[in-house]
Amino acid sequence: MRSTGQLEMPRSRRELIGSVIDSSTALLAEQQHDIVRFAMGAPSEDLMPLAALDEAFASTRSGRFDYGESEGEPRLREQILRLAAEAGAPTRDERIVVTTGGMQGLDLTFKLCVDPGDLVIVEAPTYSNGHATALSYGAEVVGAPTDENGLVVEVLPGIVERAGRPPRAIYTIPNFQNPTGVTLSRARKERLLELAERWGAVIIEDDPYGMLRFDGDPVPSLAEIAPDHPLLFQVRTFSKTVAPGLRTGWIDVDPATRARAIAAKQAMDTCSSVPVQHAVARFLERGALEPHLARLQPLYRERKLAMRHELARAFGDRAIATDPDGGFFLWVTFTNDLAGIDTEELFPAALAEGVAYIPGPAFTVDGSMRNALRLCFATSSPARIAEGIGRLDRAIAGANGATGAAR
Ligand SMILES: Cc1ncc(COP(=O)(O)O)c(C=O)c1O
Repeated sequence: MRSTGQLEMPRSRRELIGSVIDSSTALLAEQQHDIVRFAMGAPSEDLMPLAALDEAFASTRSGRFDYGESEGEPRLREQILRLAAEAGAPTRDERIVVTTGGMQGLDLTFKLCVDPGDLVIVEAPTYSNGHATALSYGAEVVGAPTDENGLVVEVLPGIVERAGRPPRAIYTIPNFQNPTGVTLSRARKERLLELAERWGAVIIEDDPYGMLRFDGDPVPSLAEIAPDHPLLFQVRTFSKTVAPGLRTGWIDVDPATRARAIAAKQAMDTCSSVPVQHAVARFLERGALEPHLARLQPLYRERKLAMRHELARAFGDRAIATDPDGGFFLWVTFTNDLAGIDTEELFPAALAEGVAYIPGPAFTVDGSMRNALRLCFATSSPARIAEGIGRLDRAIAGANGATGAAR
């Protein structure tokens, strides 16, 4: 066969879907006008612990530029174990691998447990980078509904029956889920563990937001309910609690699986950035995380309340917003005369009006949930939130008037 002179990619690589969320970083950077940023799931820059991070980086300047251990710098692993123990969920060093952000944790996880054609169940809606990663390993991804108690575990047997085979993996974001903000109840976690055991399925517990609770009582993690579960992967990150640019996270897995995860990481990036790991370790050793999180709690609560208030003021019962006890996100579903809105089509008008969000279909496998969107309340002050929701209201009113599409 004659070469076309162009790269002929294998099919699964040609179909890589990337991330609408990540692409919005570059899209927003190109804009010249003022934009209220409800799009990225990032901590507020004005609330980042910059002085403590500067100190941590300054203290790691000398002699930290060699290759490091693939499993992570011992000093950082020690701090991860301390945090787990203090959170009442002790773990062991032989279970931990430091990763380059939560995304690498997800990549290693799907790489280790999914073959092309395997069934993977995700929440609908879910964190799109998570299902994109499963797809990149050739998984067949199916969405299962969520409600105010998280993944509706009760429907999973029906999904499996229709698929005609058990899932290889079930991907859940149990705390303040991305994008809905809901939390998986203990009863559902117990049922999920039973079902996964029956099917021999891996459970991926992706938990970037658990430490960002501002209301209510913590729900024990799947790892706490089923310690040493051989098929449970916990994926964690400092991106939301400290800063996403650090690209530092970890996975907590069965020791035998960990050996394969280390091998997979060696075939990927050898080790995560050594100086950054030392800086994060130093930040944690100083005890800088705990007061930082305590400071964030009332501020994020205030921002969530402000956003819900502004949404109710602008849209009344034409928009239903979730009411999370922590994390970053509200999920907004338009109803009544706004039920026909298409948040993907609306996006250019909203951007022109000066507000950015992530359209609902970005979080589904089948492009559904077009009348919904994700808003990050954490990044903006209450005054900016009021401004941003006002702009969203104007963009919707404009689109409604111009096309009638949203009626
Ligand atoms: C549910 C979920 N998992 C994983 C990640 C990725 O984390 P990181 O930025 O550390 O790669 C995110 C970030 O948005 C997330 O929301």
